Amino acid sequence: MGASVRKPGGISLAWGPVPRSSAPCRARRDAPREKDRLTMKRSVAVFGAGYIGLVTGACLAELGHTVTVRDIVPERIQRLNEGGVPIYEPELGDMIARNKERLAFTLDADEAVREAEIVYVCVDTPPTPSGDADLSRVFAVIDVLKSASHLAAVVVKSTVPVGTGQRIRQALDEADLEHVGYASNPEFTAEGKAVRDFMHPDRVVVGTWDDDTAKLIAELHDGVDGKVVFMDVPSAELTKLGANAALATKISLVNELATVCEATGADISHVAAAIGMDPRIGSHFMKAGLGYGGSCFPKDSRALRALSTNNGYPFQLLTSVIEVNELQPRRHVQRLKDELGGLRGRTVALLGMTFKPCTDDMREAPSVIIAGRLLAEGAIVRCWDPMAQPGPVEPWTSTTRHETPLAALEGADAAIIVTEWLELAEVPWGRAHTVMRTPLILDGRNLLDPQVMAGLGFTYMSVGRPTVSS
Ligand code: UDX
Repeated sequence: MGASVRKPGGISLAWGPVPRSSAPCRARRDAPREKDRLTMKRSVAVFGAGYIGLVTGACLAELGHTVTVRDIVPERIQRLNEGGVPIYEPELGDMIARNKERLAFTLDADEAVREAEIVYVCVDTPPTPSGDADLSRVFAVIDVLKSASHLAAVVVKSTVPVGTGQRIRQALDEADLEHVGYASNPEFTAEGKAVRDFMHPDRVVVGTWDDDTAKLIAELHDGVDGKVVFMDVPSAELTKLGANAALATKISLVNELATVCEATGADISHVAAAIGMDPRIGSHFMKAGLGYGGSCFPKDSRALRALSTNNGYPFQLLTSVIEVNELQPRRHVQRLKDELGGLRGRTVALLGMTFKPCTDDMREAPSVIIAGRLLAEGAIVRCWDPMAQPGPVEPWTSTTRHETPLAALEGADAAIIVTEWLELAEVPWGRAHTVMRTPLILDGRNLLDPQVMAGLGFTYMSVGRPTVSS
């Protein structure tokens, strides 16, 4: 810990016995009394109106706080001020509308900070070419705060490398803001259920160096149905990266087991279900597929590997997890190529483009690799997705987009199910069989029933389950 970093003011948090005032606690489930509610209401500025910032802002407003969300993208703020929501996230629009009295949106950083007691940093931290996290947006926010001596605390929710909090603490101290508390409060929200994850979290991690800030951030979450866990700042920063690494490891493990199943004739659906019944392992995140995508797992696993390597330790397990994931979509395109005896001139229907269902997010989606590989092999690619909006970029500009799964399947030599949209389970597959040139399906999410598909006359391949045909 650097000399300018504040020592914990009277409590030891993760370094020793936790005092009563800040002991891990379950937030009150019953509605707080009106008197308590009044004392708890805070004024918060949230920097960043992306998935995390908007959900954080809306949920804090729902808890009774007054929130100003600031973003640098004019269209985003304009849309919010017109009552729209620039991203798709279930429940978010209703929550914003319900709390509009307590929510403001602005482009003006000074305006956001002026009345605020607490500033939340929810800007993105994309990977740099070296694999490190780009912290320029985080520090751009910290720069804005340098004359905000009225603040009680700065809280970082953005996913950052361990040590970032210390750098921010130093920057605040150098700006004569030693009295402003600092907290790391990482998010563990999954897209598609981000509002639920905020209001009913498995845990709220609060990393601080002083008990006043710990108490303040815990109180800010009063009304949230979840356990608050206190620790020091570096531990909170690593908890976020570690949690995502653990989940990514589970997915790569089950995908490796699926590959062994394919080689030996075992069925991953039975294997994973039975393994997951051991509570030490658990049944969540045990679904074999085309690999994980999205804004968190790929980025955070690479960031943790970079952090570890930069500190002199090559994190070999994580390196394997990442490699398995990168191989997964490519391996399945190869399986399709082998089955068809080559892809040149073949028409492939690519069903689902987003990294998972119930989102419009295409960041690090396996579909991008799959479409790119199919095109590189000379295939013609016909796509369907109900929500994806990839814009005019490759590989999508070299594919065609279709309104319905059936339309995409027209004349196809094969179909790949890339995202497990419910609509794909509801396709009249008997009819699909008649519009396809060759009845071949590679179900990359094990969405459909092999016996049913074989019964309809398909050659049906999936992940880690035996291939069947009529
Ligand atoms: C994830 C974490 O769940 C969340 O806690 C963290 O804060 C951010 O990253 P998200 O990226 O929204 O959230 O998606 P999630 O639902 O967790 O799925 C991530 C990816 O893993 C998806 O591509 C999904 O298809 C894949 N996955 C998930 C599997 O392949 N198998 C599984 O069993 C579970």
